[in-house]
Amino acid sequence: MIYAANFKTNHTRKSTALYMQTLNEKLRAKNPEDKVYIFPPSTALEKYVGDFTVGTQNAYPAHNGAYTGEIGVEQLDEFDIKTILIGHSERRELLNESQENVAAKFSFFKAQDFEIIYCIGEPLEVREKGFEAVMKYLLAQFDGIDTEYEKLIVAYEPIWAIGTGRSATVEEISSTHRALKKAINEKPLLYGGSAKPANIKEITSIAGVDGVLVGSASLDAESFFQMISHQ
Ligand code: 13P
Repeated sequence: MIYAANFKTNHTRKSTALYMQTLNEKLRAKNPEDKVYIFPPSTALEKYVGDFTVGTQNAYPAHNGAYTGEIGVEQLDEFDIKTILIGHSERRELLNESQENVAAKFSFFKAQDFEIIYCIGEPLEVREKGFEAVMKYLLAQFDGIDTEYEKLIVAYEPIWAIGTGRSATVEEISSTHRALKKAINEKPLLYGGSAKPANIKEITSIAGVDGVLVGSASLDAESFFQMISHQ
């Protein structure tokens, strides 16, 4: 299983360092087959040593240049970061990233040989229209995306389940993942949206779920480790 922590705009450089240390001590007990990713805010990127991979929540598709407020490959190289989240619904919605922007970012970081966790997800009004509408919406989020890319991991995060405490039901996750797995040639597929210690066992036992992308419940190292070590 894959367990990925997306801190979003939470934690400082100092609290992230403490988190990494605390988590890494606990990770000695993890199943060696499981893989852990941490996406701290950009100000907390560092060459952390541990049984996990550190990635960036975002970057501009350039090596360096005049892109005020952004970071590029040169800044990521300093910390050996070779993993990126692309397409998160918060960036699509709050920062107006279009499918075209997202696809350009994907192509750029693919060319840089980055591991890409590519996020897709539908809003509530689409889910309420039914499964067919959901799949049409989700598949459109693969426009311009190379689903054959070998370093691709997809994360399905229904927007209405993010940060709401209400995760999708087993049936919703199961049917959506089954259809998505076919569309992405069986690439690893994570679920995200109110995943937490209380529902991790149920979610990870669904066929077609290869792991989770966790926001709120990952902010505390103990809670995130409870998810990683659930049995
Ligand atoms: P929550 O786990 O807080 O619902 O956030 C999910 C998410 O957006 C991870 O990228």
